[in-house]
Amino acid sequence: MTGAKTRIAVLVSGGGTNLQALVDAQSRGEIPHGEIVLVVSNKAGAYALTRAEKAGIPGVVVEKKKGEQQDFEDRLSAILQEYRVDMIVLAGFLAILSGDFTARWPRRILNIHPSLIPSFCGEGFYGLRVHQAALDYGVKVTGATVHYVNEIPDGGEIIAQKAVDILPGDTPEILQRRVMEQAEWILLPRATELAAKELTERSTQQ
Ligand code: GRF
Repeated sequence: MTGAKTRIAVLVSGGGTNLQALVDAQSRGEIPHGEIVLVVSNKAGAYALTRAEKAGIPGVVVEKKKGEQQDFEDRLSAILQEYRVDMIVLAGFLAILSGDFTARWPRRILNIHPSLIPSFCGEGFYGLRVHQAALDYGVKVTGATVHYVNEIPDGGEIIAQKAVDILPGDTPEILQRRVMEQAEWILLPRATELAAKELTERSTQQ
């Protein structure tokens, strides 16, 4: 491999099990083209920040107050610049990023969504609501999707998907756990490596 590793920031809002999957994959040498250099949470006290600390990765809180967008994104951009971040992974990050922000990071922001896009995605589909919607519809297979982020919620190019069976008696909580174990925690590190590799190749061609 030539050139430097892609410098990755992981943006979180909650428990951070997907962040943990990335950290664990990195320590097993499964993200050779990337390095997680920063974790940003929009929620103070998110357990994901404790995971970052345990892994020796700098963790920063950038809170978004009600109604503000520009100021939040300015503060976020400043911290990303300070850490010379090349690529952003949204791992359970619940704050909305504007089209202006995402346009400045083309094919440089990834998101994990807990369904097979284009099912059960877009505005309002987050957390347990996604799994509730899949159960309400009665689909027999769901899964997870990692995609690039653009101005359309959950609408960017798909990088990877993995299917997961829905079983009799599933609740949103049981299904959420199965989708995480069988899809999200496997898919996100793989897709992160793919995207990081693409970026290192792009920068060595320039
Ligand atoms: C995951 O289900 C992810 O797909 C969704 O939010 C959840 C985050 O969980 N976007 P965690 O914070 O990574 O544990």
